[in-house]
Amino acid sequence: KRKIIIDTDPGQDDAVALFLALASPEIEVQAVIAVAGNVPRTRTVENARRVLEMAGRTDIPVFAGAARPLRPTQTTAEHVHGPTGLDGIDLSVPPTMPVQPESGVTYLVDAIRAAQEQELTLVMLGPLTDLAMALTIAPDIAGRLREVVLMGGAWSELGNITPAAEFNIYADPQAADIVFSAGIPLVVLPLDVTHKCLGLPDRLAALRANANRCSIAAADMLSYSERFDLVKYGWKGAPLHDPCTIAWLVAPDLFGGRHVNVGIETEGKLSVGMTVVDWWRVTDREPNALFLRDVDSDAFYSLLVSRLATLP
Ligand code: BDR
Ligand code: CA
Repeated sequence: KRKIIIDTDPGQDDAVALFLALASPEIEVQAVIAVAGNVPRTRTVENARRVLEMAGRTDIPVFAGAARPLRPTQTTAEHVHGPTGLDGIDLSVPPTMPVQPESGVTYLVDAIRAAQEQELTLVMLGPLTDLAMALTIAPDIAGRLREVVLMGGAWSELGNITPAAEFNIYADPQAADIVFSAGIPLVVLPLDVTHKCLGLPDRLAALRANANRCSIAAADMLSYSERFDLVKYGWKGAPLHDPCTIAWLVAPDLFGGRHVNVGIETEGKLSVGMTVVDWWRVTDREPNALFLRDVDSDAFYSLLVSRLATLP
């Protein structure tokens, strides 16, 4: 089993990624860290606990990550995810499982140091603040990680929060720059992939037809986040972002990409937060990431539907 820590800002698609991870026997989720991102940290911490409770996995510890990005201004995405971050499901009963007292950043450093070398994989589903802070405090952890699998950035699809930038990178470009410069093996699931994974009506119907609590919640949440995306893109379903990271861990053959250099724009007047992807290798900058572009989206949704059927 591959041991992972998930750092996340739930977010409907983050919640579905957590479900997929918990439903996948190939991986063991050691902890969940909730960072500020789609909504403020108080909400993401609450939402992470709620998702674990729905899946019956209150044995997995939840930590609070950073409340603010390294950049001075904070950007959230209530316009996509709703004011709670998990709009679309019944949120009237608050979660009861605890939040761990230790900070998420301290936990990250300790957990990476305590693990065998190359044992731990980090899955990053929100802004990269926590990992950047951990690397700043403890640069030695960079060489100990097996890899970091993250949803973020874009090449041919460019931006979803500005014309140039994808949300997770834009929300904390300084943090992204630290992570992309750290020499850790990176696997990047950008908009180029996730925009191919549309939640078409028959796919959401198949999820709902599973008829278990978590599948219905996933279908309800994805139907909510669609409202924004359908209008914006004129597509027949909203892109499903964060679960692509878990699908890559479980079934990497569904994806295609290249080892390339990815730089992060931290200062551009119009382009801050842009991932500058040397897809055509026009520089001699060393590859620092496996940047994915292609996906078998039918197989991705079949995997998602069949895995979520195994949850409560
Ligand atoms: C990313 O931004 C968030 O809104 C989603 O949860 C995903 O992680 C997509 O750009
Ligand atoms: Ca996210």
